[in-house]
Formats: sequence, C-alpha cells, structure tokens
Amino acid sequence: MPETQPHPLDSIGADEISRAVRVARSAPGLGDRVQIVSVEAREPVKTEYLAWKDGGLRPRREAFCVLLDRGRRRGVEVVVALGIDGDELVSALELPAGAQPGIHNEEFVAVVDAVLADDRYVEALRRRGVDPATVHVEPWSVGTFEPATARLARALSWVRADDDGDNPYSRPLYGLVAVVDLDDMVVVRIDDDAPGTGPPSGEGGDYRGGGGRPYRTDLRPISIIQPEGPSFTLDGRKVCWQKWDLRIGFHPREGLTLHDIGYTDDGERRSICHRASIAELVIPYGDPSPTTHFKAVFDTGEYGLGSLVNSLQLGCDCLGEIAYLDAVTHAWDGSPVTIPNAICVHEEDDNLLWKHTDEHSGRVDRARSRRLVISCIATVGNYEYGFFWYLRQDGSIEFEAKLTGIVHTAGWIAPERSPYSLPLGDGIVTSNHQHFFCARLDLDIDGVENTAFDVEAVSEPRGPGNPDGMAFRPERLTYESESRARRSVSPATARRFRVENTGRRNRIGDAVSYELIPGESVEPMQQPDSSIRERARFLDHNVWVTRYDPAERYPAGEYPNQAAGEDGLPRWTAADRPLLDEDVVLWYVFGAHHFPRLEDWPVMPVTSCGFVLRPVGFFDYNPALDVPPPEPAGHCRPVGAADG
Ligand code: NI
Repeated sequence: MPETQPHPLDSIGADEISRAVRVARSAPGLGDRVQIVSVEAREPVKTEYLAWKDGGLRPRREAFCVLLDRGRRRGVEVVVALGIDGDELVSALELPAGAQPGIHNEEFVAVVDAVLADDRYVEALRRRGVDPATVHVEPWSVGTFEPATARLARALSWVRADDDGDNPYSRPLYGLVAVVDLDDMVVVRIDDDAPGTGPPSGEGGDYRGGGGRPYRTDLRPISIIQPEGPSFTLDGRKVCWQKWDLRIGFHPREGLTLHDIGYTDDGERRSICHRASIAELVIPYGDPSPTTHFKAVFDTGEYGLGSLVNSLQLGCDCLGEIAYLDAVTHAWDGSPVTIPNAICVHEEDDNLLWKHTDEHSGRVDRARSRRLVISCIATVGNYEYGFFWYLRQDGSIEFEAKLTGIVHTAGWIAPERSPYSLPLGDGIVTSNHQHFFCARLDLDIDGVENTAFDVEAVSEPRGPGNPDGMAFRPERLTYESESRARRSVSPATARRFRVENTGRRNRIGDAVSYELIPGESVEPMQQPDSSIRERARFLDHNVWVTRYDPAERYPAGEYPNQAAGEDGLPRWTAADRPLLDEDVVLWYVFGAHHFPRLEDWPVMPVTSCGFVLRPVGFFDYNPALDVPPPEPAGHCRPVGAADG
C-alpha cells in the first residue's frame, strides 16, 4: 500500500499500473488472450478537484484501462479504484464491435515478426533479390482502407544496409504491402504491385557521422551555467517558477500534459488554465502511389505518443541546469515500464523582455527575458516530434512543436516525376503531406466561468467620424453557443481567439482575458469527402469551443483507429450548448504543411509550428516591470578577434 497518496492530478505510477492491471484482468467475461492497450490515472472531474483544493473530499483515485481481448476481438474499458485499503473493479465495459483501441508499440513489433514469418512475403522479397534478414518492416494504421470487421494494419518495407542505425528509409521497396490481422497476428494478404523491383541503392541516405563528410572543426564549446542553480523548484510534479505554478502530467496517449496553471499576482493566485495538451496529431499524405495513398495516421489517437517518448540525455537533448522527470508507461502485457528522463524542465535566457532609452537623460532601462521550458520528444517511426511548452515573465504561454527525424519515403519506378512527391534519388521519393495538431486548452481565466470570442481588425470606411480614412478598430464575435464557435484563422485581419471572465474586471473596466495567437497554419488539402476528412472532421475549422465535459477528450473521439469518423468535436458541438459564462474548452487546430525539400534529406532540420496564449487586460500593467535589471557583464569580445 502506498505510504502517501498521489496528488489527484498526478499521472499513474508504476505500482498503480501493476495494481490496476491485476484487477482489470479479473474483469468478468474476458478471454485468455488479453493485452493491455493503455492504463492511465483517471483525472478527477474538475468540480471534484476544485472542491478538494478548497478543503473538500479527496477524489477517488481511479485507473482507466483499455484492454484488447484478442480472442473475442473486442476492446474493453475497465475502471479500477485504487484505494488505500485495497483496489477494486469499478466497471468493465465492452466496446461495440468494430471500435478499435489504439495500437500498442509492442503490438507493432509483433506485426513485424508476423510479416517476416510469412512465406508469401518472404517469397516477394526473394523475387526482388532482397534478404529478409535486412528488411525493415513498418506497420501503418489502415483507416477505412480495409474492412472494419477485423483489427488490421498494413506493413510497408525498406532495406537496411547494416544493423548500426543505417537509414532504412533510403531503400524503400516499391509496391509491396502486407496486410496483417492483429488479433490473430497473421498476414491475411500480400499486395505486390511490382514483383521483381529491387530497392534503390540508398546512396546519400546515410546521416551518421556527418553523412560521409568530415565534421566541421570551427565549433567551440558553449556552456550554460547557473552558479546558484535554476530559479524554479520542483516538488513532486509541481513546478513553481517565479510567479507561475503548475503541475506536470504525463498521459499514455498525449504524452506531456500541463495542469492547474496559475500565476500569483500581487499575492493572489489567479487561475489561467486547468489543463493543456496536444490532444491529437494527424498526418495525411497526399500521394496516390501504391504504398502511400492510404497513409493518414493519428499519431496520438492510434499510436499513443506517451509510450513513444525518448529518454533524454543531458548535454545532448537538453543544455544547462536541467531537471528531469521520468515517465511511466507499460508493456503490452501490462507490466510497468519507466522511461527515465522523459520530461525536461529548464530555464532559458530568452533575449530581450523590454527596453527603453530615455533620450533626454540617456538613462537606459531594460529587462532580460527568461523562459521556463517544459518539453519531451517522441519518436514515431521515421519522425520525431518535440513538444515544447514555454512560460514567460510577461504572462504568456507558448507551445512549439518541433518536427524532425526522417521524411517518409516510397519507391518510385516511373520515368517521369510525380507532382505528389519529391525525388530523393533513383527509385526513391518522399511524398507531400501535412501534420495537423489539435491543442485542447481547458482555460479557466480567474475561475471556471468564462466566455469565448474572437477579435479581428476592421478598417473603418471614410466618413464624418473618419475623415482621413485611417481609422481601424477591433470587431468582436462572441461565441454564444458551440455552433458559433467553429472558426478559422485569418492572418490578414489578425483574428485572435479570446477567453474572458466577465465577472472580473481590470482597471479600465474590461473583462480580464487571455488570447490565442495562431502561428503559421494551413488548410487541409484533402477533399472534404475523403476518408481522412470524414475521420478527422475537426480539421474543418481551426477553432472550436465546447462546454467542459470530462468525457470529451480527443477531437476525433476516443477510438479513431479504423473508425469511419464523425466522432468527437462535430458530434459534441451538434448539441450547440450555450457558452456564455460557462466552463469552456478551447480547441485549436494548426497545421504544418510539408512539401519536402532536398534539405530535409537524409535527416530533417527542425521545423516548428505552434501558438501563443497571451494575457489581454488580465494584468493592469506590464506584469514584468518588477524583473530586475540585468547585471552588466565585465567585457565583450573585440571585433575581429581571432585566436586559437
Ligand atoms: Ni513532415
């Protein structure tokens, strides 16, 4: 039994996973081939959590488990109460036939073994002159390109030159797809469009050791030193940094999550956000070639980013005075797995915060900016996704997704180029695609009762009140209900999405608010009636606002794997719930467009996308006035100095 109880918002611990799985496996009616897809600490309903913070009852600690009963071909949701005095089964709910839980990373490993053990697949390799021992097999979710009556994946193939991290994506096999039944773990079909087509040479595909070129020699060491340590403190999963405090969470599906973010302003702790996460990430490809046309994956909803996060290394992934948090996930059999150093917390110098030179006196006042960085990196097959949250001294919160890794490749046998891909060499292309993130931002601006709206700039027509024709003003659209809150970005008019508390006013009488400033985004390029658009209807709008419901967690629903679609945001908001002075959740969908470049090969420099949440009239003055001036440094480097 645990000696101290976890905080209600703490992610699940290793011991809790073992206990939950033990109880979950005892649920009645389960067959003998049961695997564990996910185990998470069920977050308390917000009212219960806030009541507990106020001195009320502690919410019951519960684990939410998703099981795969492979013999019976069913998913099962099990809730287990984790008590001081013992654990008990709360509920076991069988999912409807066809509802497919996400795919565990070990399940993918089993797919690889099944494919390599299949005689038809091995024969297809032999026809191409490929040794099966050198093949890299990669399963992909199938969407609606295979019948939903079975749990299926499609496996694609590449060839490795060695076993020391060679880039397999440099040798794609054209036109070879193995379809695997995951419940029985057998190959059900081989699609072979081009028997006899061997892999490309892989030339230029190696990124190790400088990619065949000598390392540059003109880099000198850089050190980040904080002689008195960092300015943040960590107490369990709670981090306090200057006036900010929040809890860091970890979720099997979303990976890094932030909770209960507050800012202490003049001695008063003010709430800003109850929970922030990237609730979905979907990547549709746009190339009709045989091994690419179906690719449209929900990396979060189908694969679960939590179990794919890296163990970070000091000095390499993170530089400076770093605090790491471990993440706990689990194997397919349900045994806990700890990922050491999964979440990185550190401070960064962030250049200028504010400055002014008084021309009369010559006096210079300024402050340097510092930001608190909370991050993790997940590897999803070929790609790496960095999830970086920044808190700043000016009261803003920023999210930045960093995209790196290896662009996905396919074989190419036609003599002419395709408009849907970029040739990387003879017989190899990388295809056009997009990455869409959906942030779920449960903002609580000075409390839970909030109102959402957007503001954009309008140019005033010339008239008696605007004789010069230069006046412009903000125009507001209030989201009275959910149907009004389906909105798109409009960079040309600086449309921003705000959440305000009408019950709290700033010094000029306006409601206090935060606004979301979109970063670069793009529209989905798939036809509206395409399979992926139906499955990811949340892509239809950049912004959605819903009334808080703890069951509404993911924009494409709980189980997007092989789902036909229409679940999630479109379904919930069809109810058109009123939103004025309600507990609102802001969903922001943003896309990274990717026409691959030659510079993305053989490994892609980081490209990023994201958004900023910024106070608007939340504070009465610049909240960073009290950041002390920086100490002038002793000397700077003379121009033209060249030593060493
Ligand atoms: Ni990309």
